[in-house]
Amino acid sequence: MLIKAPKGTKDILPSEVYKWQYVEKKISELCSNFGYKEIRLPVFEHTELFQRGVGDTTDIVQKEMYTFMDKGGRSITLRPEGTAGVVRSYIENGMASLAMPIKLYYNITAYRYENVQKGRYREFHQFGVECFGSNGPLVDVEIISMLSMFFERLGIKDVELNINSIGCPKCRGEYNKKLLEFFKPNLDKLCGTCKTRYERNPLRIIDCKEETCKIYTKDAPALVDNLCEDCSKHFEGLKEGLENLGIKYNIDKNIVRGLDYYTKTVFEFVSKNIGAQGTVCGGGRYDGLIEECGGNQTPGIGFAIGIERLLLVMESQGIEIPKAEAIDVYIACIGEQAQKYAQKLVYKIRQEGFSAETDLMGRSVKAQMKYADKLGAVYSLVLGDTEVESNKAVLKNMLTGETKDISLDTLIERLKM
Ligand code: HAM
Repeated sequence: MLIKAPKGTKDILPSEVYKWQYVEKKISELCSNFGYKEIRLPVFEHTELFQRGVGDTTDIVQKEMYTFMDKGGRSITLRPEGTAGVVRSYIENGMASLAMPIKLYYNITAYRYENVQKGRYREFHQFGVECFGSNGPLVDVEIISMLSMFFERLGIKDVELNINSIGCPKCRGEYNKKLLEFFKPNLDKLCGTCKTRYERNPLRIIDCKEETCKIYTKDAPALVDNLCEDCSKHFEGLKEGLENLGIKYNIDKNIVRGLDYYTKTVFEFVSKNIGAQGTVCGGGRYDGLIEECGGNQTPGIGFAIGIERLLLVMESQGIEIPKAEAIDVYIACIGEQAQKYAQKLVYKIRQEGFSAETDLMGRSVKAQMKYADKLGAVYSLVLGDTEVESNKAVLKNMLTGETKDISLDTLIERLKM
């Protein structure tokens, strides 16, 4: 029986991989421009990290994690996101002793057991950044400006920036009281999970995806209207900073984000053209997370872009991604002697840093030339006994059709031209 890939996973085939490589190249250029260094982390972590970091009243932790016991009896979870792991690594590797701010970026796979649909998968890819040590709002503005530059560089025009502030534990305490008052009359109409959230973390009710709950959350009081003085000042600073750089934004009072670690600034970049899963990027500040995970109190902020959604946006806008480079030269050959010569020649060409191919399939010359065409070879030449003995061949430019008699010794020099 044919074994298929698990639901919600996708192979990235060679015919598509150039798009990913293109985006990855743009990411590393962007990160280098903004002073972010790459970090590579394990795919799995102790489950407790996500329970504490992401929060055990979130949908991710309650419903979506790939959690299992390993053979040593430890509870392990495939990372549902990148931030918690980066924070763990920051603390474990003593990065607090390095010069602040610490700027890190990652390209990762992440895993969530979600209902699969366009733009929503169970294994997906994220490009994310995390910056530790700065209280902002300067850094909030810098991070958002990094995103707007990234979209600009990719030629993406249809994503909108939505921002909000969800305050700090101080303003949230007061706000939670208001929320409890607000939901009390309809508590019995909320879903089971939200009834527990009412007791443990009422802000999470606002993020519930159940249709019935959405009816009752629609008019709930907004945190941004109930901020303490410090958070309010921070939010003003963020808006001013964005205006200073000419970055357009909307204030969306409903953004609370699906993870518990956020404080103050939260933001999303959304596209209207890729269906229901239009949030291409989500991020925000998390000033309590490092402490929550066992480190010293250190502010942090970051974002993650879903690469699958990013590519959907680019496709919906008809943005052409340059294809991977074609090969430099194809050496077709007739007969055993020519084949041996061709193999040696191709080896030498590759040694010089060019890409070259010759026949490995025992094809006829006609079929070899057809294949060279499929590979998109820039040059080709045909070698038979006469060419090998005389050390001369006809070099064809496959793009223009132009041909030239050359000495085989000069082939590499010609490729360098
Ligand atoms: P998030 O909003 O959960 O935030 O995910 C960020 C992005 O990952 C989303 O905007 C979306 O593009 C993509 N994404 C999420 N789930 C899926 C899925 N099931 N299928 C496809 N794409 C998906 C975070 O993960 C935070 N760690 C971001 C962050 C970093 N905040 C601060 N630092």
